[in-house]
Amino acid sequence: MLPATVTIESVRRFWEDNPVAAEGIAAPLSSPEYFRCFDEIREAQDCEPYAYSNLIHGYEMSHGKRVLDVGCGNGYVLSRYARRGAEVHGVDLTGTAVKLSRRRFEIEGIHGSFQQIDGVHLPYPDHHFDIVCSMGVLHHIADPAPLVAEMRRVLKPGGEIIVMLYHRYSYKYVVLFRLKRLFDPRYRSMTQQDALNRNDGAACPLAMVYSKGEAIALLRYFDQHVCRLNQLSYRQLFLVGPLARLARAVLPSECDTWLARYFGWALYVTARKP
Ligand SMILES: C[S@@+](CC[C@H](N)C(=O)[O-])C[C@H]1O[C@@H](n2cnc3c(N)ncnc32)[C@H](O)[C@@H]1O
Repeated sequence: MLPATVTIESVRRFWEDNPVAAEGIAAPLSSPEYFRCFDEIREAQDCEPYAYSNLIHGYEMSHGKRVLDVGCGNGYVLSRYARRGAEVHGVDLTGTAVKLSRRRFEIEGIHGSFQQIDGVHLPYPDHHFDIVCSMGVLHHIADPAPLVAEMRRVLKPGGEIIVMLYHRYSYKYVVLFRLKRLFDPRYRSMTQQDALNRNDGAACPLAMVYSKGEAIALLRYFDQHVCRLNQLSYRQLFLVGPLARLARAVLPSECDTWLARYFGWALYVTARKP
């Protein structure tokens, strides 16, 4: 059961106060060090190394393309496109994200436009973008279908949509959240849905998980769907630090194990507008 109190305003308030990954970064928000730390966490082997992100987004083939990121956060993804000569536009529900993105671009000396807006009303004409992406956003919205329709409207025919959603059949959702509910006092007596909501912070109003089939159904007005799974760390698998470190030393890179490809937490879907 989804909580009835999830309004767009509660989602906005949460992300305004909790920009993605900020609680794990000691450097002052907006400082060059802040972005350096964020990028290091983002591109770590157990998260989304640059080569993997490039495989999903095609940064290195994006020169001259027009790209929109809905829920752009601090501008990480768009900065990778902009470095390669794409024309980039970001929208986000929060002023915090827009300020962070502008600051990131200023520090790097690259160009992009950013607006604080709900992605369900995109201020762009029809058939405008070559690529529209939304990474880690749709699973925080109770009814993402209108936002997906809006992303489709602004995409050119033949253009590409790219989304990342939390994966329903992931080791993290199926095993780790259950272990937390059994053994972690902070999670005890919580429902699986409440435990999931807390993934991005204790006050996060909503998170949802998608199977590949559910993700493709959400993007049903597109074609040529490709699903990829990633993000299952040795720390999550082995639970204790020393074993995870040993595994890291002797086993393949964490973003490249078959376990991550079947039971990873991050479900990436790309598709084309017919
Ligand atoms: C988990 S963060 C992901 C940020 C970024 N996409 C990334 O990959 O780092 C989710 C972001 O989506 C934004 N967001 C949530 N709902 C939105 C909406 N309806 N329209 C635009 N942005 C939204 C939040 O403000 C937040 O910045």
